[in-house]
Amino acid sequence: KYQKQYFMPPVPSLKWAQKETVEQAPTWCSVDLRDGNQSLIVPMSLDEKVEFFKYLVKIGFKEIEVGFPAASETEYNFLRTLIEQDLIPDDVTVQVLTQSREHIIKKTFESLRGAKSAVVHLYNSTSLAQREQVFRKSKQEIIDIAVFGAKLLNEYAQKTEGNFKFEYSPESFTGTEMEFALDICNAVLDIWKPTADNQVIINLPATVSHSMPHVYASQVEYISENLKYRDNVILSLHPHNDRGCAVADSELGLLAGAQRIEGTLFGNGERTGNVDIVTLAMNMFSQGVDPQLNFENMPETVAVYEKMTGMKVYDRQPYSGKLVFAAFSGSHQDAIAKGMKWREEKNCEHWTVPYLPIDPNDVGREYESDVIRINSQSGKGGIGYLLEQNYGYSLPAKMREDFGYTVKNVSDHLHKELKPEEVYDIFKKEYVNL
Ligand code: KIV
Ligand code: ZN
Repeated sequence: KYQKQYFMPPVPSLKWAQKETVEQAPTWCSVDLRDGNQSLIVPMSLDEKVEFFKYLVKIGFKEIEVGFPAASETEYNFLRTLIEQDLIPDDVTVQVLTQSREHIIKKTFESLRGAKSAVVHLYNSTSLAQREQVFRKSKQEIIDIAVFGAKLLNEYAQKTEGNFKFEYSPESFTGTEMEFALDICNAVLDIWKPTADNQVIINLPATVSHSMPHVYASQVEYISENLKYRDNVILSLHPHNDRGCAVADSELGLLAGAQRIEGTLFGNGERTGNVDIVTLAMNMFSQGVDPQLNFENMPETVAVYEKMTGMKVYDRQPYSGKLVFAAFSGSHQDAIAKGMKWREEKNCEHWTVPYLPIDPNDVGREYESDVIRINSQSGKGGIGYLLEQNYGYSLPAKMREDFGYTVKNVSDHLHKELKPEEVYDIFKKEYVNL
């Protein structure tokens, strides 16, 4: 009730919903080292941050939020290490977060000494709940905080050598009345006066996700269409996953006019996490759009992430979980086996194999160990396919059926999955040694 009373997105026009997919990759900004890190039970050490940073660069991120340097010594020293050890490639821009307070902004610019370029990300909270309960300030006072910070960024950037770009986030945007969110973004833009050569990022965080994805997208569309200096503004999204919809929020938000996404690998981040950039990128890949990020070696990406964060990628995590290409059930195995044969025979250009959204090889996964898996649910098609692929035996129909039942029974009685070698052992015992 409370939220409904104040929660007033404009009526969605749904113009953007006519599009089938996002047509080009957005600018990706990894917030693994900031939002991701601040939500870990044990935040990363300096060495871990350096290693993670290098990996983010390796897989193609061009913008990386490295922390809140004024907030802790590790964050400050991490940025200094990146700069002093020359670890930031020329085509990568680091981003730092700051609140709208002079001593914090001063320290933030100090931490950036010697950086060739950086995004300085200013935020303050704008939702009704935060204004009333936390800050006890009027709308005008909240605008004043943002404008104060925006002016200081101008001042400090002028005094500091380097190429600085600015970003503003009305934090808790999704709990903010849209007209007010627009007013505060425009007030900041009036201070920064973006031009074609000096663009500004306006970032719309679903700090806490409050609505269905089409409602968030209609909010994005409203801001996109009414923002001042729109041609010189990069509109960015920062979805969190409280409703389990961050990927959908991002996809619809991109269709509705956004150009940039802030998120993390596998959706690490506050509470239910930030949007999972791996899923977003691979969704684009599966629709024929180059995501401009490289997940060809997904097992390596998972291993680095798990080592650095201490978190686990769960078995059914899209595109990356251990079981996401596995087929145990007979009918699925049969369809996959037929689809793979069809593919070979027809030399298909497109990926069309049933039950597999993409070719597992595209993310460094193997058919042999990852796809046809044998247990008591499996069928003759899959078991026959496995024997043929791994051991070169193509069984006649009746024999395949009998052998299928034998293998299922063994698995049922042992109550475990059977590896290809075990299936082959049963085959040898049943047929070859006779
Ligand atoms: O979720 C959020 O609102 C944030 C801001 C600081 C951008 O992380
Ligand atoms: Zn966040």
